[in-house]
Amino acid sequence: MTAQLNARGDVAVLVPAAGSGVRLGPGAPKALRLLAGEPLLVHAVRRVAAAPSVRMIVVAAPAAEVDAVRELLAPVAPVVVVAGGAERQDSVAAMLAAVPTTVGIVLVHDAARALTPPELVESVAAAVRDGSPAVIPVLPVVDTVKEVGPGETVLGTVDRSVLRSVQTPQGFRHDVLAAAHRAGLDAHTDDAGMVEKTGTPVVCVPGSEFALKITRPLDLVIAEALLRVA
Ligand code: CTP
Ligand code: MG
Repeated sequence: MTAQLNARGDVAVLVPAAGSGVRLGPGAPKALRLLAGEPLLVHAVRRVAAAPSVRMIVVAAPAAEVDAVRELLAPVAPVVVVAGGAERQDSVAAMLAAVPTTVGIVLVHDAARALTPPELVESVAAAVRDGSPAVIPVLPVVDTVKEVGPGETVLGTVDRSVLRSVQTPQGFRHDVLAAAHRAGLDAHTDDAGMVEKTGTPVVCVPGSEFALKITRPLDLVIAEALLRVA
């Protein structure tokens, strides 16, 4: 049964799924690879659709897969599917163009963070609703981090207590994200990075171990284990 989205919700969630997944190894585009028998994108969209504030979901698919992705997601949730671009940032811009200005909060996610719980979508959206123009979910850094120079020589040890690992969904006031994209900044791997450059404060909320980004083959093994305890 297709999940109905909340017509009174104030959140659009953009789900970039147009990458190829080079680091996962040869095969289908990453978002379409299977985890416990279902494509990563289906896992991701099902969880986003279960978040009560979500009014609209937009997916960026590889250009050759737009129709197939529309069919794949039809039984999962009502979604708008657009063709993605060469870089993630281009895919996000294409999705943002599909969101009406009447939707006040925009979250930018990753299909690769397929097991992100609906509760994290809600907590990021709530922080934006409560007045933060830009919000990112983060986890503490567990490893010791070194700065290295030429020849892999250690230059120093970074103070871990001031570092955070950043996840998605990242949440923004719609006008703030739109302005960052209009500013036409250089390539960034995350959307908050673009917003930071415009001088807007970005605040952190607690992330989730379940929001790990499936990047390398080992991450698929970890994700399968997480599904068993979810
Ligand atoms: N993505 C996208 N459009 C691109 C590149 C990436 O929509 N041009 C999406 C991916 O599908 C993924 C998310 O952005 O859901 C995060 O990117 P990443 O984990 O780097 O995925 P890939 O780019 O597919 O993987 P890789 O970098 O290993 O090729
Ligand atoms: Mg990539």
